[in-house]
Amino acid sequence: MTQRPPRILVFAGSLRAESYNKRVAENAAEGARAAGADVRVIDLKEFPLPVYDADLFDSVAGDPHALHDAGGGVGGPHAKPMPEGLLRIKEQFRWADGWVVSTPMHSGTYPAALHNLIDWITRMAPGERPLDNINRKVIGVVSCVFAGSGTLAIAEFKRLMTTLGSMVVPGSAIVEITSHDEMFDAEGKIRDQDVRKAVESTGARVVKFVEKLGLTGHGD
Ligand SMILES: Cc1cc2nc3c(=O)[nH]c(=O)nc-3n(C[C@H](O)[C@H](O)[C@H](O)COP(=O)(O)O)c2cc1C
Repeated sequence: MTQRPPRILVFAGSLRAESYNKRVAENAAEGARAAGADVRVIDLKEFPLPVYDADLFDSVAGDPHALHDAGGGVGGPHAKPMPEGLLRIKEQFRWADGWVVSTPMHSGTYPAALHNLIDWITRMAPGERPLDNINRKVIGVVSCVFAGSGTLAIAEFKRLMTTLGSMVVPGSAIVEITSHDEMFDAEGKIRDQDVRKAVESTGARVVKFVEKLGLTGHGD
């Protein structure tokens, strides 16, 4: 049986089509690939999730974590299907050993879209255990923000994920916003070599931690 490569999921905390953070996420993905990982870059916009509301599905009395999916044949006569985007994105998180997130700063912290995602993926689908998609996952965080915004979105997102039981890698990288042309070359690479290296290193560090912690298991 062969050890498979670490599986790293990379995404931005922004839904915006022209998001700077989506570009930065691609650069972090490059670092993870160079370190030998199997990398998937996803766009949260392709997995639409409503604002979390327990009434959107049949929660079980006394078990606020449970999700019942009528489509999966679980739940009573009033069972409602989970949001379609949630079913698909849960697959991505189940697949991953680690994530690299590039987060914008919204109102002094990471965006609501990112918190909403965490709220949804921490709800259990049938067959899942609590925090299956969070525990034992290695997480790296970078950020693209305006000059002076500093590390707040990164610090807040790291604190959230640490609280939930993820393993957050030390270090991060900040890309300061000027304009697409100034920040990225024609291939989308970050022009500033030092910043690019710091972003790629965050991707690579997640891969190394997954390997060192022996989280890849074996085979497929
Ligand atoms: C709702 C909202 C709140 C924001 N709050 C802040 C903020 O507190 N500090 C800051 O520097 N930029 C703030 N911004 C600016 C974003 O960081 C900036 O638009 C950035 O480009 C977003 O990343 P993106 O290009 O990946 O979407 C805010 C933007 C939005 C839409």
